Amino acid sequence: MIAVATASQKGGVGKTTVCINLAHALARRGWNTLVVDTDPQGGIGLSLSRSTRKRRGFYDFLQNGGEARPLILPTRLPELSIMPCGDSASFLSQGAKLDRSPERLRDLLRQLDLLRFDCVLLDTAAGLNGVSEIIVRGSEWVLIPQQAEPLAVRSLPLLLETLARFRADGTRTRVAGILLTMLSSQLDASLKVAREVRAMLPPSLLFQQAIPRDPLFLEASALGLPLSLIRKNPPPSALLFDQIAAELEERIGLPAHKDQTHRHASLLD
Ligand SMILES: Nc1ncnc2c1ncn2[C@@H]1O[C@H](COP(=O)(O)OP(=O)(O)O)[C@@H](O)[C@H]1O
Ligand SMILES: [Mg+2]
Repeated sequence: MIAVATASQKGGVGKTTVCINLAHALARRGWNTLVVDTDPQGGIGLSLSRSTRKRRGFYDFLQNGGEARPLILPTRLPELSIMPCGDSASFLSQGAKLDRSPERLRDLLRQLDLLRFDCVLLDTAAGLNGVSEIIVRGSEWVLIPQQAEPLAVRSLPLLLETLARFRADGTRTRVAGILLTMLSSQLDASLKVAREVRAMLPPSLLFQQAIPRDPLFLEASALGLPLSLIRKNPPPSALLFDQIAAELEERIGLPAHKDQTHRHASLLD
């Protein structure tokens, strides 16, 4: 099992959007995928009904430990499951528990591995401190959505410095990639940022595929759904996530899926 956390210095850069759409794409590609909502303000639980929104979840596990399985909600897609945020308020009001959180997180990931998930995407709150720091430090990989906008790009060096500092004190987390989001192909300023980021970073750090700015993402977030589920025919921006998922597979070493290889092979027969 591979754990990938999202991270960004500031909020509103597209972490949750990337997480939910990427998870859906990975599941469609056959990977048994779990999205863990660790952001008390996050929108992953939005599409859940009122009663399920009050369900126990990630923060209840951080607080009490126990069994992970009852906290996991299946979706209509058998390969995609969700662990809701749970009761973050009572956890965060007892800040002292943070020192036990790294061990709880290790226990959670151990249990998820035994439950046979291939890939766990942990959606975090903005900033690399508090619970988000613990999650990034405790995950094998970190995925960094980066808005293709002039002001937003200023925070990238700081984020990379923080991750370098984590590595210097023994954290093993590796960068799965920086993913440009909200790229406006009509706006010179946005294209310029994308060019600058590409010039500044080695290709090994940057996803080739960028996510365009598309108002449909807003619509999908309001419903708490992946983009490909808001229309009968998935819009073009939704299809990009298949490519992003394929790139991620290569970057983090998920091998081409057995079922897919088999399906392609049988087409040729
Ligand atoms: N590529 C995009 N194009 C247009 N709007 C986007 C895009 N990605 C995200 N958004 C919107 O921007 C807002 C913030 O995105 P979100 O994924 O919640 O960011 P974060 O999790 O980093 O706070 C949401 O309303 C979302 O619908
Ligand atoms: Mg979010």
